[in-house]
Amino acid sequence: MRDQAEQLRERMQQNRKARPTRLITVSSGKGGVGKSNFSLNFGLGLIERGHKTILFDVDLGLANLDVLMGISPRHNLFHLLEPDKTVWDILERGPGNLEFIAGGSGFTQIMQLEDAKLDRLFSQLEPLHGYADTIIFDTGAGVSKESIRFMLSSDEVILVTTPEPTAITDAYAVIKMIHSRNPQVQIRMVINRATSEREGRATADKLAMVAKRFLNMEIGTLGYITDDPHVSKAVKLQRPFLLAYPESQASKSIRKLVGSYLNHASAPERDSGGGLRGFLAKLKNFVR
Ligand SMILES: Nc1ncnc2c1ncn2[C@@H]1O[C@H](COP(=O)(O)OP(=O)(O)OP(=O)(O)O)[C@@H](O)[C@H]1O
Ligand SMILES: [Mg+2]
Repeated sequence: MRDQAEQLRERMQQNRKARPTRLITVSSGKGGVGKSNFSLNFGLGLIERGHKTILFDVDLGLANLDVLMGISPRHNLFHLLEPDKTVWDILERGPGNLEFIAGGSGFTQIMQLEDAKLDRLFSQLEPLHGYADTIIFDTGAGVSKESIRFMLSSDEVILVTTPEPTAITDAYAVIKMIHSRNPQVQIRMVINRATSEREGRATADKLAMVAKRFLNMEIGTLGYITDDPHVSKAVKLQRPFLLAYPESQASKSIRKLVGSYLNHASAPERDSGGGLRGFLAKLKNFVR
């Protein structure tokens, strides 16, 4: 039985003028550089600006985002394999009205699904196209096979790094890998935990210069996030820092970043990647 809320939601979705959905994968070379905190607060920042955003946890069952939001999702992606479940059933609501999909026990499991099930799972996600303005995929630590698949299927990759040399070298390795396998993917950097904007800019310039020189690849910068003790405080409270400490430096950095993102021409309008449908088709090819 479909409940009223679900019917209403479907109707609203049908009434919405279909608009292109931007798909971004948030990745890093080194783990622990702030991807999940960035994805969550960036998503909330977009919502603040009236931009409908869905956050998708594609971490390998580590459930990072649930913990950061202080919620226990009732559903995850794998519930889509159940006969009566639709994508509207598995969309969870987090703080600040952020809609969220939990990855469940991980995408490695997806590779083991038989073809019919995989098709069902992917086609069930299609209604999200045109429903959300942006879908953010938060990937796990390091460069797993699954993260690579997401990066190569996306229109846009947001590569998070800190100014530390080890994080920068690992970020460069990701840039190189993407370049060799799908040079169409647009990469933009976010420099997290910068002690100043100057340090952030120097880090971004360094990476962009190396990519240009050795790969002849243009890498843009989306922005910088200050190293701010409010981030760790918010993590301990299990609340997003944008909501717990809206006036903190980290929150200010996020808002600025959101502004740059919204000013930038939308990826699906620029290329013919085919939005969510195209993304899922590519992802499926990589899975098989
Ligand atoms: N801007 C920041 N200022 C201060 N501390 C930060 C900042 N960003 C992240 N941190 C710290 O880094 C920790 C790890 O962040 P987060 O979980 O977002 O990283 P991650 O890249 O998603 O990690 P993983 O690779 O394990 O998924 C946070 O718990 C916080 O303590
Ligand atoms: Mg994470």
